[in-house]
Parts: sequence; C-alpha cells; structure tokens
Amino acid sequence: MNEAFADIPISPEAQRARHSPLEDIFRRMTRFGPHIALAAGNPPSDAIPLERWHECFDSVLTEQGTAALQYQMPNPSLREWLADWMQRLGVACQPEQIFLTNGNQQGLQLASRLLLASGQAALIERPAYTGILDVTQKRGIEVQSVALHPKYGLDLAQWREVCSADPRPAAAFAVLDFHNPTGFRADGNIRAQLAEIAGSTGVPIIEDDAYSALRISGDSLPSLRAYPGGESCIYLGTFSKMLFPALRLGWVVAPVAWLPMLNGLRQTIDLQSSAIMTAVAAEFLRRGWLDEHLERLRHLLRERLAAFQEALQQSFGDHGEWEEPQGGLFLWLRLPEEVDADARFDEALAQGVSYVPGNHFYDDGETGKNELRLSFASAAPKDLRKAVQILARVLLPAKKVG
Ligand SMILES: Cc1ncc(COP(=O)(O)O)c(C=O)c1O
Repeated sequence: MNEAFADIPISPEAQRARHSPLEDIFRRMTRFGPHIALAAGNPPSDAIPLERWHECFDSVLTEQGTAALQYQMPNPSLREWLADWMQRLGVACQPEQIFLTNGNQQGLQLASRLLLASGQAALIERPAYTGILDVTQKRGIEVQSVALHPKYGLDLAQWREVCSADPRPAAAFAVLDFHNPTGFRADGNIRAQLAEIAGSTGVPIIEDDAYSALRISGDSLPSLRAYPGGESCIYLGTFSKMLFPALRLGWVVAPVAWLPMLNGLRQTIDLQSSAIMTAVAAEFLRRGWLDEHLERLRHLLRERLAAFQEALQQSFGDHGEWEEPQGGLFLWLRLPEEVDADARFDEALAQGVSYVPGNHFYDDGETGKNELRLSFASAAPKDLRKAVQILARVLLPAKKVG
C-alpha cells in the first residue's frame, strides 16, 4: 500500500517531523510495562484534587448546560483571572491581551510561526526543551545554541554575541524557571540582562514558563516582560503542570500588535480552546482553590526531591554531579564521559526504571549521552530510592552497589 503513494511528494516539514526520538522512548516504556517513572514530565497524580475537579465539572455542566459543549468566544472570567495572575510575575496587562492556547506547546508553535520563517535562525539554550527543538528544527529553522550549565548558568556573553551578529537570529527561546531539562533557574540579574539584550538587539525572546508556579524554594521572580527591554518578548504560560496536563490550556502575553496575527495563525490549527475545559479551570480558580493546591504540590515536590537527593548522594555521590533544583519536576544528572545512558536505556527499563537520556535535549542528538533528565515528581520516596539503586546498577556497573 505504501508503494502506491511512493511518488506523491511529502512536504519537507512533514519529512523532518517523521522522527520523534522522544516518542520512541515513550513507546518503548509502554512496551516494557510497569516501571518507576523518572522520564515523564507529569505533575504528581496524587497531588491532583480529584473530588474538587468532579465538583467543577458538575457545576459547569449544571450551570452552562450544552453551551459548555459548543464553540465559544474565549472565556472572559479566565482571561480576567490570568491578567491578575500575571501581576504576580510583574506583568501589567489587560484581559484582552491574554490569548488562550491549548498549552505551551501550542504557544511555542504559534510564536515560532509568528517570528520565524524556514531558513531563518533561532537562538536556543543548549541543552533545550525537546518541544523547542521541535518548533525550530522541524520547521527548517537553523538553530544557534548558547550553553546553559545547571551550575554556572547561561552564557550571557555568548547570548549577546549571537544576538549582535549580522544577520541576527529572528527570535530566541528560553525557559527561565526550573529549566527543562537542567532544572536551572535564571536569577533577576540574568533576566534583566536578557531583556536588555532583547531590547537593544531586536531579538525577541519567547519565554516558555511551564514551571514557575512549582517553586520549592526561593522567591517569585518577574517575567522578562517586566524588565526594561523585555516589551518585545512573548510570555507563554500553561496550566499543565500547576493544575493538570489534560486541561490542554495555556496562555500567551505578547505585544498587542501581534495578537491578530497570533489569532489568525491559531485559526489555521484548531480554532479555539475547549469551552468546557476553560470553564472548568475558571471554576476551580473562582472557588479560590489554587493556592491550597499549589501548597500541597510544592510540599510533595519538596519531600520527593529531598528523598531523591539523599539516595543520589549515596549511590552517585562519587560518580555524578547535579545541582539541587529550586522547583519544577526535573533534576539533571551528569555522569562520567564513558557512561552511555542512551545505550543503557532499555536495560534500565527492563530493570524497572525509566529516564530520558540527555542527548535528546541537544540539537545534534548526540551530545549528552552521559547525562540524564530525571523527574523526581511522580514516584513516592521509597520508589525513588529503589529507582536510584537500579540506575546505579545499570549505569555504573563497575561500582558495587547494594
Ligand atoms: C518547558 C516546557 N514547555 C512546554 C511544555 C508543554 O506544555 P503544555 O502541556 O502546556 O503544552 C512542557 C511540557 O513538558 C515543558 O516542559
């Protein structure tokens, strides 16, 4: 059957999209069956207040009836709530400036299509979130990457140099809070400099904020749009990690002049966000349940991170390096050069633990095989301890571990 279509040309973008190494990883995980999940970027299921969500669904369906199941204009009360929420991040905006999306991955796609054409260059972090690699490399965008070290941070001198080159990149992407995959958090000084560089060089930054609400320690820090120079930056927020990913609900704050174009681009994809899901989220927020939920979520993450680090110290203390993340879901473990976590992945799964090999976060797909992105969010402390022992057995076979 395939042969019959062999001479029908497929677009270059679709051909580039054919391979998704991360999806392959998740497929292999399903094949191997139950294991301790350190791979996925899910918020902890046991922190999701199921009863409260039942109530919100019930209330929306009772009050709105079938209207909640129809096409609808963007939910006004949710946009109002979000405009207010953005003030916590130092951003003043009107509800009309809040553009609802189906999550940050859609926000990344829209921002990429807004600012970048195939053949142009984008500045990204190295390593970078796989979804950022997807909306650049798969679209035929050339990537120029700037090192982000979980301990030493972002190489700002190089960032400035790349943005000042001729031709300069058309846009940049950054995850400033509890970076995926490294867990790094940019401090106020880095943010101020990034905003200044964006303003002075004309390279706007698409700030992908999936994790700032999942802060375990430290203070809340403003978004780039709050700093001088940051006015051209695009902020992307999502409820995926702070509430639950199946909401598929996020938002964009962008320069007002760009909103009609974002809207037009969005029309070509999926018309609008789901009326019922936005109404249900708005109901949860209206009832004032978010802060209590975030408290619980943070408590759980703090507890799990502590157990995880203690176990890592015991098994990897002499063989690995990592920095303690101040929030988010991930810890970035760096092992000696000779360890190939990509090659050992199936063995780890067979032994009962998953992770994401570091090379999937590099633009060449090769660098970082001795690094691992580990989620400490989904497993209970005792399972985290067990997972670390398995990892040590699989990845450090020369070392005697219990
Ligand atoms: C940095 C980052 N951006 C975006 C996303 C996608 O988020 P959403 O579910 O809102 O599309 C993720 C999910 O893991 C992420 O880690």
